[in-house]
Amino acid sequence: TISEVLILEIPKVSDPRGNLAVIEKETIPFSFKRVYYLYDVPSDAYRGGHAHIQQQEFLVALSGSFDVILDDGNERIQITLNKPDKGLLIPVGIWRELDGFSSGSVCLVLASEEYDENDYIRDYSNFKLFKRS
Ligand code: TYD
Repeated sequence: TISEVLILEIPKVSDPRGNLAVIEKETIPFSFKRVYYLYDVPSDAYRGGHAHIQQQEFLVALSGSFDVILDDGNERIQITLNKPDKGLLIPVGIWRELDGFSSGSVCLVLASEEYDENDYIRDYSNFKLFKRS
């Protein structure tokens, strides 16, 4: 459910030469098998629009900002990600949509599974049916 969506602090080493943030196995509650990132995203782009059956994800705005809409089939919230030292943990079974990308923004995603199209629910009414079953 929506209450399982968490913003987690990413430990960082602050330095006048620039900050260094580290994500390691203690930082997030799953081990990741895949890393991908969105970049060069047009400001009017809409991304996401799906839920996962098995896969957990951890999203970080490495640069710039964007909005994430999260929906558990019952409740819908919006979270703005705009800090490289805060990440959004998305548990399984949560519909997500991403938009409002600022120019130059980069969305890093750590995923608990390898890419598998069969793990996606890309139709919102199917998602609602899935949540009811
Ligand atoms: P899509 O799921 O639509 O991206 P987003 O959720 O960010 O809007 O994925 C876009 C395309 O990229 C789609 O054809 C699937 C493909 N893809 C991969 O091949 N490997 C991956 O790890 C991911 C995340 C997507």
